Order: sequence, then C-alpha cells, then structure tokens
Amino acid sequence: MSYRRTDYCGTLRPADAGRSVTLCGWAQGRRNLGGLLFVDLRDRSGLMQCVFNEETDRALFAQAETIRNEYVLCITGTLACRAPEAVNPDRPTGAVEVRAETLTILSKAATPPFEIEEETQVGEALRLKYRYLDLRRPKLQRHLMLRHRAAQAARRFFDAEGFWEIETPMLTKSTPEGARDYLVPSRVHPGMFYALPQSPQQYKQLLMLAGFDKYFQLARCFRDEDLRADRQPDFTQIDIEMSFVDVEDVLSVCERFIAYLFKDVLDVDVPLPLPRIPHREAMRRFGSDKPDLRVGYELVDITDIAKGCGFKVFSSAAATGGVCLINMTGCAGKFTRRDIDALSTWVKEYRVGGLAWARLLGGEMTSSFGKFLTDAEMASILTRAKAQDGDLLFVVGDPNETRAQTALGALRLECARQLGLLRKDDFKFLWVTEFPLFEYSEEEDRYVACHHPFTAPMDEDLPLLAAGELGRVRSKAYDMVLSGTELSSGSIRIFDTQAQADMFSALGFTREDAEARFGHLLTAFQYGVPPHGGLAFGFDRIVMLMAGADSLRDVIAFPKVQNASEPMTTCPSPVDEHQLRDLHIRLTDTPPDAEA
Ligand code: AMO
Repeated sequence: MSYRRTDYCGTLRPADAGRSVTLCGWAQGRRNLGGLLFVDLRDRSGLMQCVFNEETDRALFAQAETIRNEYVLCITGTLACRAPEAVNPDRPTGAVEVRAETLTILSKAATPPFEIEEETQVGEALRLKYRYLDLRRPKLQRHLMLRHRAAQAARRFFDAEGFWEIETPMLTKSTPEGARDYLVPSRVHPGMFYALPQSPQQYKQLLMLAGFDKYFQLARCFRDEDLRADRQPDFTQIDIEMSFVDVEDVLSVCERFIAYLFKDVLDVDVPLPLPRIPHREAMRRFGSDKPDLRVGYELVDITDIAKGCGFKVFSSAAATGGVCLINMTGCAGKFTRRDIDALSTWVKEYRVGGLAWARLLGGEMTSSFGKFLTDAEMASILTRAKAQDGDLLFVVGDPNETRAQTALGALRLECARQLGLLRKDDFKFLWVTEFPLFEYSEEEDRYVACHHPFTAPMDEDLPLLAAGELGRVRSKAYDMVLSGTELSSGSIRIFDTQAQADMFSALGFTREDAEARFGHLLTAFQYGVPPHGGLAFGFDRIVMLMAGADSLRDVIAFPKVQNASEPMTTCPSPVDEHQLRDLHIRLTDTPPDAEA
C-alpha cells in the first residue's frame, strides 16, 4: 500500500495545474452529482476538492461511492483548474481540483459524534470528550500552529540574545507559598512526597548561582488552584532568569522579545518602549493591577470632596477609605435606567455597598445622590470629573479604598464590554512596576509575599522594611499586561543571605521553618550569589491572546476542564490497590468514582 504524499491539500494553486499529485487526509463531505462525485480531502493545511468521474473509470467511481466522512484516504490524480463558474472564492484552493485516478481507503471511520466544522454549535463537553476529533477542526489546528510558531520564535530570540535553554526537574520539593502543590508519592521513601513544580523559580535562581548567567526554558508548571478561563492546572511558562541585572535590563529584553514575537508570528508592530505604570498609579487610575488600556475612561478620586459632604454613604466611606468616580463621557444616552440598575446589582459582587450615578442629558442632570449634596459639593464633583452634557458618571465609595477602586475598575471594563470597545486585535501592552512587597491575607491573618518570598524590596523602601511597615514596602517586581490580562510576572531577587532570612522572618516563618523549607537555598546563598532577576511569561496566555481565543482551552492540545479533570482520558481516576500499596498509601474514603 503506497501513501507517500507529494503535497499538502491546502497548498496547491492554479500554477500547479497539470501536475500529478498524491494527497493524504480525511474525507470531509461527499457530493454525488450523477456521474461526478466530489470529495473534499482535509489535512492540516486545508481542503482540496477531488473529483471522481464515472465515465472515465467506473470501478474507481464505485469505490469512491463507499467513502464516508472522516475516512482516511490517499488519492492520486492530476491537478486541474476548475471551470470559472465552479470556482469557490472562499477557499484558498477554490480555483483548482484533483481529477482522481487512484483511491486508497487507508482507514474507515465510525460516524463521528459531531461534524468537523470551522465553527460549531456542539457543546464543549462533548467536544472535549472526543478532543482528537475536535482538534481536526481548522480553527484548533490554526491555534496549535500559532502555538508552535510562537514557541520557535521564543527559542530563536532567546538563543540569539545569549540565553541557554536548561531543563529543570519535574519531581521537586514541595513549596509552601503560592498555590497548592500537586504531590507525587515516593515508593522508595515511604511517607515522602515530591511536588510537581509550580514554576522553576528556585532552580533558576540556583542556575544563576551556578554561573549560567542567562537561562530560559519553556517550562511545564503545575498548580492546584481554582480554574478560570485563563488558568489551567497544567500550563507552560517561558521562564527566564539573568545575572548582574536590575529591573531595567529585564524589562528591556522582555519587551524586545514581545515585539519580536508579535512581528514574527502575527506581523503586528508593538511600539517600544512599553508604557510603565507603578502599581499604586495603576490602582488609582484604572482600579486594577492589570489595566486594560484599550479603554480610555479613567478613575477620578473624589475622596477629599466626599469627606465632609452631606451624603452619609460617601462621607463615611471617605473617612477611612476612598470614593472615586468614572466619567463615561458621551454615554448618558447609551445606558438606560434599567442598564444602570443592572450594573448596580452587578458591582455588588465586588463587595461594595452599591453604585451611585449621575446622568447629564439634554441640559438636565438626574442622579441617585444629588439630593443629598449641596450645589457646591455637586459642582466640585462635576468639575473634578470634567463632566459635560451627554456624560454618565458612576461613583463608588467604600471604607476600604482598594475595594472601591477595584469595583469601579471592574465596572469600567464591564461598561467597555457592553459598549463593544474590547477589540481582540487591539494589543495594548504595558508594564506595571513597583508592586507592593507584601499583601495582607485576611484568610491567613498575616502578611504574605505579593509575588514570592525571593523578591527584592525597592532600595528606597528598605527603611520601611526595617521599621516593620510591611504594608508600605514596594518591591522590584513587575508584570507585563496585555489588554487587561497578566501576561508575565517577575522580579529582581534578594541575593543576600541575611536579607533572605529577614524576608522569611517578616513572612512569619521561624528559623526552623525556613531552614526546613528553603535550607538548600539559604545554604547555596553562602557561596557567592550574583545579583539576579527574571520573569516568566504565561505561554498559554500569550497564544490565547494572539489567537483571539476566549479560553486557554482553545490553545492547549489536551486541556483540563473547570474541575481539573480531563474528559477524554477521564483523569484523575482511581488506581489499583497494589499501586497504592507500593506507594504506602491507604485511602480513608472510597473515591466516589470508584463506587460507580
Ligand atoms: P507567576 O506565578 O506570576 O510567577 O506566573 C507567571 C505567569 O504564568 C502565567 N500563569 C498561568 N497560566 C496559566 N494557568 C495558570 N494556572 C497560571 N498561573 C500563572 C501567568 C503569569 O503571569 N516564578 C515566577 C516568575 C518569576 O518571578 O520569574 C512565577 O511563576 O501569565
């Protein structure tokens, strides 16, 4: 049986007419027009119409009549231009067809549970169960091709910049900070566990200490955390680390990489340098640490005006927290009272009391709070907001300033979404810098590292750290943000043993705790550490945004669903009793799946 192809289906054009070709692929649609039978053959490059002519070859025609969708075929024939009236302008190969001369059915196919089409209405659950069929869809094939190209571009760029690709282990020591670990029990060491890496963070720092100077890796990472559209338990980072650098050096190489990547893969120009916004300013202006710069509207602080005003909701929020507004310029007529009421309910998800609003339309103002304010107070608010006729103001106050900003920041995006302002081909990058070193975790009732415990404080804020004012210390941590999504995150690291030990103690680790968890790092740090820093890009996220996809699932070959399971192989799944015995594990409850 011969099935050596000469060409991919989607690559042939009228210039190839007259050539004898051999194509391999899957049958997609068969039309019998009485004496002429058309089969579209699909491979990863596209579709080619193949024609069987009953008059020319009766036996071949009869064989072609047995073809069903998704049969795997090898067809040889002559490439010919179609008659002008038969040209399909919607298809890159629409001007040509193959006049079939031989047909080999390489494999038959059962009727698939859904049709393989570019766009589909079929539910995702079914498509994920038969992921290998869903992956035949041109759209997913394109996404994975894009992913491949992006990976190759990353390798080219970092290699050319002098970075070495070094792999770090998959079986590692459990890390306490951050998300939950996926654990792997040890057979040889009863009761002991490896952890799958949440990131190669400690290894890459040790590589710097070992003198490798510049490292990168397309690193698989594993995190047991709640899934969202932009989070998978099993994902990939483009991880980098550099020695003898400060913030500027890392930002520079990373933004040049992004510009190279977008030019190379999408032919999109990313203007450099990227804007840089310190974290505090991002929160103040956009109510988010990952501002979406596709949207123009910015937050305006009115806490000072609200402080003494007659509206209790504003004045009490202003006493300890903040009151801010957003002026949706020109939107007074675009949101009805009903829309505004719906937004008021929506914003409560962000744990604020509600939404105050003012609408200036046709020379008149209606508002939810005007009656509680003096004319002078209202006038100051309108002036601060630069409000004009046709504008719509939304105001949020909360005893916690960050909560007020976050709620209004989220509302800003929701309004932009409703107004259709979030175009997927509008790539707006920026750096958010100077992140806080610590954040207070209400859940754990202690300060935790905002990025991770190896991040260096800003030199200017060392006195604050010494004074124990943890909430005010800024760090040398930065995020790259693309259109409201955190694309990458990194920092300059602490490279002094004592400073690292102080950091652990500020985070509430006892000396013994720190020694048990990070002893290897603290020991290593005694042997000469270069100043170093780096960052990790979420590779899946980059590809998702490049592809204009809504979910990481659309750019990962075999993704997990919301509950971290994989519907096709049905993992996780129970294991044999003897496997557990080998691993010295006894289950306390029978897993629900095992009972079924
Ligand atoms: P961080 O935890 O911020 O930093 O992760 C870096 C980037 O990885 C992506 N990312 C994810 N992508 C998909 N699914 C997930 N569950 C997921 N979690 C994170 C994001 C994020 O910006 N070691 C540090 C980096 C450093 O300091 O160098 C780290 O892992 O795009």
